[in-house]
Amino acid sequence: MAHLHPRTELSRESIFAQMSRLAAEHGAINLGQGFPSNPPPPFLLEAARRAIGTVDQYTPPIGLPQLREAVAEDLGVSPQEVIITAGGTEALHALAEALYGPGDEVVLLEPYFDVYIPQARMAGAEPVMVPMRLTDRWEVDLSALEQAITPRTKALLLTNPYNPTGSVLSRTEAEQIVALARRHDLWIISDEVYDELYFAEPPISLRELAPERVFTVGSAGKRLEATGWRIGWILTPPGLAPQVAGMRQWSSFCSAAPLQAAVAEALPVARREGFYEALRQGYKARRDLLESGLKSLGLKTFSPAGTYFLTALLPGLEAEALVREAKVAAIPGSAFYIQNPAPKGLFRFAFCKTEAEIEQALERLEGYLKKVHS
Ligand SMILES: Cc1ncc(COP(=O)(O)O)c(C=O)c1O
Repeated sequence: MAHLHPRTELSRESIFAQMSRLAAEHGAINLGQGFPSNPPPPFLLEAARRAIGTVDQYTPPIGLPQLREAVAEDLGVSPQEVIITAGGTEALHALAEALYGPGDEVVLLEPYFDVYIPQARMAGAEPVMVPMRLTDRWEVDLSALEQAITPRTKALLLTNPYNPTGSVLSRTEAEQIVALARRHDLWIISDEVYDELYFAEPPISLRELAPERVFTVGSAGKRLEATGWRIGWILTPPGLAPQVAGMRQWSSFCSAAPLQAAVAEALPVARREGFYEALRQGYKARRDLLESGLKSLGLKTFSPAGTYFLTALLPGLEAEALVREAKVAAIPGSAFYIQNPAPKGLFRFAFCKTEAEIEQALERLEGYLKKVHS
């Protein structure tokens, strides 16, 4: 009997989809999966309505020229170094295909964002996980990172700002990581899909420190609250964009043409009209609401400096029981670890939800904690 390749083991339902499904089944407030409750901004929606019926056919696999230019202008790079992809997810996949293969290793931090592992494995490479240090904050353990490097290591894959921890690399950390990559002659994949979502200093883009070896991943979905549009990008070191774009031509070929055109129009408007400042203010208020609420329930939180995720310790609680009984969905820390143990009681909460949803989730948690502790 014919059978599917064992690789389809990677197709199992992710914890994010599972928690969203359970949340819907149990009428829970979903602070699990990271998709915004806000609609995309009107200037983006209007641009898309204008583009449909005008920009409808294939674009080059490397992207619609006006979007490559808009991304380049926004990020201060050459359009020649920009590839448009179907979201950050396809950008990361194209890079895995272009940078490593069987016998190679890619070094990552734990906790990690879920797509990195199956993508490395689909490319035939082995992920090697280095745990972050958790004290009162999340920190990169640079000596552990260096120890994880072997002659097989091809790349370091980092996220900044970081999902799930919400941490942002300090300049010193960023410089040390780049120096380490130079010492061992490694590529760096810098996943910066949350580049506009920070609450203190703007994050350092690793590319600024090592343009010759850093591939940056970006996402219009994250920036413009349109995660279902699937528009993202890669910034490559000089001269490498055509080959990397050539890899994605064999999967999606190109991203949705009218949505590329709409994002091209929207990026300069977002910058000019202070859209990102407003976005940050809104998320900062919701972060503070969630964090102060969790603290007032006596829980330990790790304040995020970026992203719309917050990690906290809920010792003795179990994610499925939380959805079923407290009717609040959050992602258990174990979902972000495959090689090292997750800190006990770790959960990730998404605060890209309405204030009313966050308030209600806090009330439900309070009631549940009283019940389990009584
Ligand atoms: C760290 C990180 N990278 C990449 C992605 C994927 O971005 P996109 O929705 O543009 O595919 C996400 C989405 O949650 C993410 O959290």
